Parts: sequence; structure tokens; C-alpha cells
Amino acid sequence: MQRLAPALREDNVPLDLISLIETILAATKEISFRVSQGHLSDSMGSTLDENIQGEVQKKLDIVANELFKDILLESGFVKAVSSEEEDTSVAGVEDGKYIVSFDPLDGSSNIDINSLIGTIFSIHQAPTDMAASNPDMFKQSGNHQVCAGYVLYGPSTTLVMTTGSGTHFYVLDRTHGGYLLVERNLQVPEDTQEFAINMSNQRFWQQPMQNYISDLLAGDTGPRGKNFNMRWIAAMVGDIHRVLTRGGIFTYPADNRNPEKPYKLRLMYEANPMSFLIEQAGGLAMTSQGRIMDIEPTDIHQRVEVIMGSKNEVEACLAYYK
Ligand code: AHG
Ligand code: MN
Ligand code: MN
Repeated sequence: MQRLAPALREDNVPLDLISLIETILAATKEISFRVSQGHLSDSMGSTLDENIQGEVQKKLDIVANELFKDILLESGFVKAVSSEEEDTSVAGVEDGKYIVSFDPLDGSSNIDINSLIGTIFSIHQAPTDMAASNPDMFKQSGNHQVCAGYVLYGPSTTLVMTTGSGTHFYVLDRTHGGYLLVERNLQVPEDTQEFAINMSNQRFWQQPMQNYISDLLAGDTGPRGKNFNMRWIAAMVGDIHRVLTRGGIFTYPADNRNPEKPYKLRLMYEANPMSFLIEQAGGLAMTSQGRIMDIEPTDIHQRVEVIMGSKNEVEACLAYYK
């Protein structure tokens, strides 16, 4: 099996971007080790703090955030970083060529139950006409990502990443301490009989999503004429990994639980990187109004409606909104 750097060179990824990717992955190896130690490490449980989005921070959210932030800012490759756990962007070096957005720990509610968690990252080119301290550097659409990926700290530690020439699948080989390429060019099957949605929010969804899911639940005697299975991991990394592996539709639709907050998932470090991976694997990544990666961001922490996965199923869902 091929090691990561030669695999990236084969895709003509620039050497400084390969070095940046390897920097990010160094932090994931440390997190992977801590996660595998579980309650033997001192990273379990909650802190007394909340992040800017009002969510209680787990110890591992903080540990992971500090690890990524420190390693990236010390690397010399990065002009600024932004993270779910940082109020605003954090400046790196003025001549850094890249900016990185990340969700250091995705699926925080799974930490203490020994279930799936991960890290999501998105890399853009740094604008040359703005200072490193200017958060406006991050106002670039997902279309401009030069790399996106996630690491899933599951039974094996898995990396799925794209630099714009397909979505490739790697596994951390603990015997030599690096990621090995397992499969090139993942392809999301166009059709599926599996959906992922948090059903407990059903009563809060808009009518088109209510109608779509109710038709899926009606199974082979309903309008879709086939049965659907359901999965919900409560970590986007876990759900998207399943979709990339065997197909499916994943959605976190708009809901009216809180009129100030109609969407849950964050554009910059959840929806955009996952959209890049899904599209590079032949799937669709949409809101009910259009492509996620076309959205021009206005805020580092903005939230967005997400409907992504198997092409024909995403289209079937969107037809309910027309
Ligand atoms: P995070 O742990 O980074 O805050 O993200 C959790 C997100 C996402 O990963 C997952 O799909 C979703 O929240 C789960 O939402 P519910 O709690 O509504 O199931
Ligand atoms: Mn997350
Ligand atoms: Mn998170």
C-alpha cells in the first residue's frame, strides 16, 4: 500500500500543501492515541466552559482544538486558522500561503460513550491582500477549497481526503505511524435505500422534508415503492463515512425549534469540507435552494441546511421543495 505523500505527489499536489496536510495529520495521530486510551487519558468529561455557539465544551474538544491550533500556527505554512472552538480567526504568519478551518472534534456527544468521533478540516489559499488578523480571509466559498478531509477515530483511524482529484481513503498504520492509501476514487452509489436524519426533530421540519421522509417510511407500499433503512450516528463524520462507503442520504434540514437558529451544521468546517468530499466522489451536496459550495460565507460560524449523498436520492428529496 502506498504512503500518503507519494500518493499526493501522484495527484500533483504542491509540496507545501503536502507538508501542511502532514502537519494536520500529525495532530490527528496524537488525538487518535488519546481516544484509544479512553478513560485512561485525562481527556474525558466536560469542562465548565461554553463555546461562542453556546455549546458546553468537552475536555477533548479543547485538547483537540489546542493541538490543531498550536501545530498549525507553529508550522509556518498557515496565515490564519478558524475553528468551531475559537470565537474568531487566529492569526498565523503573514507570508503563510494557506488558511485552515477545522472542527477539531466532531460528534462531541459520543466522546463519553466510546462511540464514533472525528476531526474535519478545510484548506483555502490565503488572500495576499489581507492581514493575517483579518477574519474576512475566510469569506471564500467552498468552491475555492484546495483540500478537505476528515479523520474518523473509529475501530481503525481512517482518513478520507480530497485535493480536487477524487476522494481517497487512507488508514492509519500504527506499525509505522503513517497513513496508507487503501482506496483511490471512492464513488458514492447513485441510488440508496438508507437515510440519515435526526427523527426526533420531525415535528419542527418544514413541510417538504416532512413529506419526503414520510414517503420513505411508507416503504414498498408507498409512493417510492421500496423500503428504506435508517441510521443516525450523531457525528457527521460517522454518517458521511457510511454514505461515502455504501451510499445513503444524510440531511440536517431546516427546523423551527428556535427561530434564531433554523440550521444546525456549520458551513465552514462541517458542510463545505464534506460537500467537497461527496462531490468528488460523484454525490450531491445541497441545501434545498442550491449547491452548498456555491454559498458566499458571511460569518465563520454560520450554519446551513444540509442534504447530501447519493445523487438520485438527493434529487428525489429536492423535488419535494419545487
Ligand atoms: P459537534 O460535535 O462538532 O458539535 O458536531 C455535532 C453535529 C454533527 O456532527 C452531527 O451530525 C449533529 O451535530 C448531531 O446532531 P443531533 O445532536 O441533533 O443528533
Ligand atoms: Mn461537528
Ligand atoms: Mn466539534
